[in-house]
Amino acid sequence: MRVVEVQADDRELIGKIYKNEIESFGAMGGADMWMIMSFIRYGKLYVLLDDEDNLLSVAQYQGIMGKNEAFLYGFSTSLKERGKGYGKILLEDTHKKLKKLGIDKVYLTVDPKNKVAIDMYEKNGYMIEELQKDEYGKGVHRYLMVKILM
Ligand SMILES: CC(C)(COP(=O)(O)OP(=O)(O)OC[C@H]1O[C@@H](n2cnc3c(N)ncnc32)[C@H](O)[C@@H]1OP(=O)(O)O)[C@@H](O)C(=O)NCCC(=O)NCCS
Repeated sequence: MRVVEVQADDRELIGKIYKNEIESFGAMGGADMWMIMSFIRYGKLYVLLDDEDNLLSVAQYQGIMGKNEAFLYGFSTSLKERGKGYGKILLEDTHKKLKKLGIDKVYLTVDPKNKVAIDMYEKNGYMIEELQKDEYGKGVHRYLMVKILM
């Protein structure tokens, strides 16, 4: 198993990432091809692959302009691979990579009802900073979570 930074010419892998976005997030919140290419070229898109190059987990980061901070736009594990510890591995590994790039703080937002994800982030050191009411439309609330990278 290994963590890979996705490159713009790796079209086969990008295809798998796009499929996983639809499977993991449905119509709302997933990244389309425009966003995926933007994360690859202007942010960081990391994946955890198994030894046969099957996609296990995906992490999509954007840099925050003028600050040593990043926003974790999207994070998911392939449907059939969930609950096996892969999300935890990718989160920890990519934070080390970001720290080496000079990033000191990571933000993310999560559905307040998404207990599985909130638990994972809290165990990883994220804290809930605020409730963003109606952030993505009426009734679509988010928790803003933040972690200082050590
Ligand atoms: C949230 C998600 C990324 C977790 O990935 P994962 O690879 O299944 O997570 P892991 O197996 O590494 O587990 C990490 C932690 O998540 C929590 N967790 C994972 N599966 C769980 C389950 N079925 N029930 C309760 N908690 C669970 C636990 O706190 C776990 O820590 P533990 O193993 O010490 O108990 C995955 O469920 C997912 O892709 N969900 C859909 C997309 C999504 O909601 N992404 C987050 C958007 S902000």
